[in-house]
Amino acid sequence: MPSLTSLLNDRFALALELSFGEDFKRRDPVIRSSQFADFQANVALPLAKELKSKPRDIASTIVDNLDLAGICETPEISGPGFINLTFTADFLASTLSRGGATEVGGAVEVGDAVDESAEVTAAKGAAGSGQRIVIDYSAPNVAKEMHVGHLRTTVVGDALARTHEYLGNTVVRQNHIGDWGTPFGMLIEHLLDVGIESETAQDISDNPNAFYQAARAKFDGDEAFATRSRSRVVSLQGGDEATLELWERLVGFSKTYFNRIYSLLDVTLQDDDLAGESKYNDDLAAVCAELEDKGLARISDGALCVFPEGFTGREGEPLPLIIRKSDGGYGYATTDLAAVRHRVTELGADRVLYVVGTPQAMHFEMVFSIARAAGWLPEGVAVEHVKIGNVLGDDGKILRTRSGAPLRLAELLEEAIARAKTTLQESNAEFGPEEEAVVAKAVGIGAVKYADLSVAHDTSYTFDLDRMLAPIGNTAPYLQYAGARIRSILRKTDDDAFAAAPIHLGEAAERDLGLSILGFSDVLAEVAAGSAPHRLCTYLFDLAQSFTSFYEQCPVLIADSPEVRDSRLRLSQTVLEVLEAGLGVLGIRVPERM
Ligand code: ARG
Repeated sequence: MPSLTSLLNDRFALALELSFGEDFKRRDPVIRSSQFADFQANVALPLAKELKSKPRDIASTIVDNLDLAGICETPEISGPGFINLTFTADFLASTLSRGGATEVGGAVEVGDAVDESAEVTAAKGAAGSGQRIVIDYSAPNVAKEMHVGHLRTTVVGDALARTHEYLGNTVVRQNHIGDWGTPFGMLIEHLLDVGIESETAQDISDNPNAFYQAARAKFDGDEAFATRSRSRVVSLQGGDEATLELWERLVGFSKTYFNRIYSLLDVTLQDDDLAGESKYNDDLAAVCAELEDKGLARISDGALCVFPEGFTGREGEPLPLIIRKSDGGYGYATTDLAAVRHRVTELGADRVLYVVGTPQAMHFEMVFSIARAAGWLPEGVAVEHVKIGNVLGDDGKILRTRSGAPLRLAELLEEAIARAKTTLQESNAEFGPEEEAVVAKAVGIGAVKYADLSVAHDTSYTFDLDRMLAPIGNTAPYLQYAGARIRSILRKTDDDAFAAAPIHLGEAAERDLGLSILGFSDVLAEVAAGSAPHRLCTYLFDLAQSFTSFYEQCPVLIADSPEVRDSRLRLSQTVLEVLEAGLGVLGIRVPERM
C-alpha cells in the first residue's frame, strides 16, 4: 500500500519547486496530522521567515501550484498559514479497492494514471528498505536466570527485527549473551564438584539461579574453592582444552534454558543468532593494539584506558573506559568495541541497534565515541542505543518476588498463560483442550508482550497481569478479540464474492476507518525510523476502535444493498489483514476464535 504522506510529500515537492525554484524542491513540507483535516502542511511558516514574506501569502502561492486533483478536496489555509489537506472519499475508496493494504511501498494510482515518483519515495519512506540492520537484543547471561529486564529487551528487539524484515530490510540478529568472564572459574569448579551428569548440573536448564548461588556461596565461604576457581579462570583464558569443554557444557545448559523461554515467548531468536561475549576473545588484543597505535589509548594506573572526548566526571576530570585491566584481563567494554568493529566490517551493517537497558547508556556512548574516533564506524553507519526502561512491581521498585529474589521469568509467563486460560473458560467459548491451549498461549503471551511494547521503550512501567489481560483498553486481548470478531463476521457469509468488491466510503465512520487503514505504511516507517514499536500499538488500538464505531454505526451483514454489504465485508476483511500484519510484526498472534 502506498504511503499517504509520501504521496503528499511528492506533490508538495513539485509545488515548492514551481513556487520558489529548484532549490526548494527538497524542502520538507512538514506534513503532520491535523485536528481540522486529515493532514496539514506547516512548511509556509519556516519558509516565510526565510523569504521575508507573510506565511499566509506563502501558503497561498504553494496552494496555487499544488496539484492534488483526484486526491484531496481543495486545500484550505488556516491559522497563521497551515495548509489543511483532506482526502476525497473517492480517492481513499479507490486506493483501498485496489487492495494490498498490508503491502509496503507501491505506486499510487490517481484516476487512471500511476504516479511513479511516489513509488520511489514510498519505498524510501519505509525507513530505507534494503538496509542491513544488525540488532543486538535479549542478551541474557549464562548460568543466570533471565530477568524481566531481559524480557523487555527480548520483546522489543524481536518486534524491531520483525518490523525491519517486513519493510524489506535485511536483519542480522546478534544475541550478545554473557558467556565469558571471571565468574566462570567458580561455575566450572562447582560443576566439577557436583558432577557434570548430576541432576544439580542439569537443573541449570530449569533453574539457573540455584546453581549460580551455590557456586557463589562456596566461593565466598571456602578459601580452597576460591583459589581453585581463580586458577580455573587462568586456564579458561589460556585456552586449556579440558576447561573449554567444561565451559561449553555450562553454556549448553543455559542455551537449553534460553531456548525454552524463547519458544514460550514466541520470539524469532535461533541458535545461529548467538554471538556472545566469548566470540570476540581473539579480537581483544588487536582492538587494544589498534587503539594504542592510533594514539587513543594509554596506560593509566597500570590499566590500558581510552579517555573519549567530552566524557568527564563530577570534578571535570576525564573519564576512562578501561580496555585492559592491570592484570592483563579484558572486560565488557573491550568486547563491545570488538563487537562494533565486527558488525560494521564483517556483518556489513548500515545501522546497528543495541536494545539494552537504560543504565548502560554511558557505556554505549563511550563505546560509540571511541569506535568513531578509531575509524570503525564510517559516516554512513548509524549506531543507536535503544534504551530499555525498567519493569516495576506494585511498590514502584524493580519487579521482584515477595522474598526479594529476582523473579523467574518462566513462572511469570506461565502464570500469564494460566490466567488467560481461566478467562477463556469463564467466557462461553467452546474450545476443545487443544485449541484452548493454543488460544491461552496466544492471549497470555500476547498480553505480556503487548504491555512491554505499548509504552515508549525508554520509560518504565508497572507489571500488572490483570491490566495486561484486560479485554478492554489498549491491550493485546482487546486487539485479538477485535480480530476474532471480524473473523466470526466473515464466517457468516456464505460466499467470498466480496473479496474483490469495490469499497465505498459513504458514511463518516466508513471514511474514518478507511483513512485509518491507509495509515499502516506510514506508521511502520515511523516504528522503523524511531525504533518505536509503541507507535504501532497506538495505531492498532485506534484502528480497532474505528472498527468498533464503524461496526456500531454501519450494519454489515444486513446492509441495505448487496453492494454496500460487500463493500463493508471487504473493509472489515482489510481491517483484519492490517490487525494481523501489525500484531504479527509485534510478534503477537491473532487466534481464530476467542
Ligand atoms: N548481557 C548484558 C546484560 O545482561 C547485556 C548485553 C547487551 N549487549 C551488548 N552488546 N553489550 O546486561
